[in-house]
Amino acid sequence: MAKIIDGKTVSASVKQKVADECAELFKTTGKKPGLAVIIVGDDPASKVYVNNKKKACELVGFLSKEYALPAQTTQQELMELVEKLNNDDEINGILCQLPLPKHLDEKAVIEAISPKKDVDAFHAVNVGKIMIGDYDFLPCTPAGVMELLAYYNIDIEGKECVVLGRSNIVGKPMSMLLLHKNGTVTICHSRTKNLAEVCKRADILVAAVGIAKFVTADMVKENAVVIDVGINRMDNGKLCGDVDFENVQNVASYITPVPGGVGPMTIATLMKNTLTAFKIQNKLA
Ligand code: GUN
Repeated sequence: MAKIIDGKTVSASVKQKVADECAELFKTTGKKPGLAVIIVGDDPASKVYVNNKKKACELVGFLSKEYALPAQTTQQELMELVEKLNNDDEINGILCQLPLPKHLDEKAVIEAISPKKDVDAFHAVNVGKIMIGDYDFLPCTPAGVMELLAYYNIDIEGKECVVLGRSNIVGKPMSMLLLHKNGTVTICHSRTKNLAEVCKRADILVAAVGIAKFVTADMVKENAVVIDVGINRMDNGKLCGDVDFENVQNVASYITPVPGGVGPMTIATLMKNTLTAFKIQNKLA
């Protein structure tokens, strides 16, 4: 039976470290890190995520500002807000919750956020820095996964790592971070041939496809480490990952649950990135 990777505990310990450092820095600077979160429209899942980000900011002692804009917000209005926040000294990190309503250009918004305040690490400058292994911020979800692997002393060097999914938010940066730790990385996607076979080679399998219970026990090698990035809502309202947890836990050595696995780590990394942004902008790092 697999050991359950407890994202809540690891996330709490990361957030505690951020809170301690934040309190220490406040003593010397009299300033708090500030995070601005923009949400456009009323996607229920996005609202939950944004609310959790706000709560985490309060917990660690950050200043948190939420900009909840109506669904019909224009591109120009959104760009003007980003520009205002780029120039606001109280704000060290800016996050625009994705996805945006269809009429808005996500790419343009991401590129408008100052790379120095891009705590999602989505801006091309930060993506490029990650590629060459010389970065200030790591993307929140993949970095959260790396933190979990480190906490449980799971070695990556020389291991077969298979990443399911090639999104800019998770799949691609995840692959890069595993590569930085000397994993042998394969990225699978919707056109991959013999996908089940490729998955079965994995010592470390990261699922980020957005399809409930996509990874079944027959696709998993005995004693593999299985990381589930998926958050899918079932017809009964319950959350479910991309992995068939009930059955895969009998094959894997470690597994992340959904909820309570990777999800809380995403927010913990966001807090870390905002603290880093604060320190860089105040020439403390
Ligand atoms: N939507 C889903 N995940 C994320 C994330 O990590 N950052 C932002 N900005 N939007 C998201």
